Amino acid sequence: MNATNTHALIAAARDAARHAHAPYSRFAVGAALLMQDGSVITGANFENASYGLSLCAETVAIATASAAGRLREIVAVGVIGGAMDSNGVPTGASPVSPCGRCRQVINEAAQMSGRDLPVHCGAAEGDAVRTYRLSELLPDAFGPADLGIG
Ligand code: THU
Repeated sequence: MNATNTHALIAAARDAARHAHAPYSRFAVGAALLMQDGSVITGANFENASYGLSLCAETVAIATASAAGRLREIVAVGVIGGAMDSNGVPTGASPVSPCGRCRQVINEAAQMSGRDLPVHCGAAEGDAVRTYRLSELLPDAFGPADLGIG
């Protein structure tokens, strides 16, 4: 993925974050998945009044891709996040990287697609982006292959 596409994926994640349901943490996260055909599937965090039931943006995006029968078509992941302003818009220039559970969820897509997915970690504002391979974020991952699936 080239720099322009990375920028577009981060922009899509920023758009998605505007639909975060995060009234408890007031921390909005958006995730965007680049698909093989160039299309993009997004997700935003979806919190719950029973706090521990909250879903992260990356998990929502990957479940959405899977529900469309497209789990194996993911080629890159973009994520952004930041504290919401009074309009619910995420703010801040520090890149956000996926939580531990999301790394495991991204691994499901990575192993099923046979790709060590690039994960572009951006911020709500500014140009800072850190790019990792999933294997850097979650080395020696347990996954579908361990159960004979893939
Ligand atoms: N969150 C995500 O959506 N993705 C992550 O990788 C880290 C955390 C959400 C969960 C919660 O709604 C809010 O950010 C604050 O933790």
